[in-house]
Amino acid sequence: MTDWRVPLSDLDYGSEEADAAQRVIASRWLSMGPEVQAFEQEFAAMQEAEHALAVSSATAGLHLALLALGIGPGDEVVQPALNFVAAANMTIAVGATPVFADICSLDEPTIDPSEVERLISPRTKAVVVMHYGGSLCRMGELTELCATRGIAIVEDACHAVGVAYHDTRNRWPNGIMAGSIGDISAFSFFSNKNIAAGEGGMVVTNRGDLAERVRSLRSHGMTTLTWDRHKGHAGSYDVVSPGYNYRLDELHAALGRAQLKKLERNNQRRRDLLVSYREAVGSLDGWIMPFSDAIEYSSGHLMVVVAPNPDIRDRAVHALRQSGIQSSMHYPCVADFTGFANGSDRDLEVTRQFTRRAITLPLYPTLNPDRINCIVDVLRSV
Ligand SMILES: Cc1ncc(COP(=O)(O)O)c(C=O)c1O
Repeated sequence: MTDWRVPLSDLDYGSEEADAAQRVIASRWLSMGPEVQAFEQEFAAMQEAEHALAVSSATAGLHLALLALGIGPGDEVVQPALNFVAAANMTIAVGATPVFADICSLDEPTIDPSEVERLISPRTKAVVVMHYGGSLCRMGELTELCATRGIAIVEDACHAVGVAYHDTRNRWPNGIMAGSIGDISAFSFFSNKNIAAGEGGMVVTNRGDLAERVRSLRSHGMTTLTWDRHKGHAGSYDVVSPGYNYRLDELHAALGRAQLKKLERNNQRRRDLLVSYREAVGSLDGWIMPFSDAIEYSSGHLMVVVAPNPDIRDRAVHALRQSGIQSSMHYPCVADFTGFANGSDRDLEVTRQFTRRAITLPLYPTLNPDRINCIVDVLRSV
């Protein structure tokens, strides 16, 4: 499947996923039905949340989250410039304006609460946070900031499945699962995620009003599903508002369920690998490994290092490629994309430094730990 000697990520797929797919095929029902319902229940239980609603992707989930919150033209949504473009794109899709905030530091590349406070205006309706690489944002400060102003928090929790908030001062929301802290959140089951199903997503919320709107909007605002009619539970349907087809199907839900069963073990494997990386990177001069002192509180989604300067970064990426080791960069600064160039253009100094110096290295549950020293030796060589 890959020409890389060490790919950036790899699936932990086996007989469990094959059996899950076979189960769906044998059931002769492919569209949203009992597998999706079971996946939602199991996911909600893991999240200790009231509602989990399966959707076709996290992008769809973010779209529905913003719509459910009633965000639209004239509203502003403060969000990190260091993020996958989905949240910014969906902000535009609902007619609102993304306002980009800087990250805390190169060592803590999550949205800076003091930046959020500076950027909040009378038009701010929501703040999107993103738990970079699986380490959580400063949710205590962010929650205080937003709650006192009546601003909603949307968690882009795509990197942080299966991990709880931890604050050394033992303050709220200690122990609460990422994605269950804000008003509403979105998870992704894209191939490289900790739960990989190819495509798919989950919206999580404890607010019944938001859950109902998401449930309705994900299926054209229709009052029943084809499954309900198939089972004879409903004969017809009404459309209570315009909506979308953002439904998840049974095959993806079954794969997601098989992966969910492996999540705790695989997140621990990822953390163990991060600890090995930390030991190896510690011997390099001037390189930073973000969140390296809090690996035990991460989902271990990404292994990121920050090079001493952009030139060394570029040379390291080249040397890794020459050695057959795939690397990446999470993420380009969203405010610098052509499509967003006319948006908010604050200085975003730390984000821009980070994007010029960061490298994402291979990390996946089945990565052979012996590879880590070889990978870090390539960085040492430049
Ligand atoms: C942080 C983040 N947000 C949003 C998304 C979008 O997820 P999806 O591909 O499921 O729409 C991703 C996935 O790549 C992501 O990593």
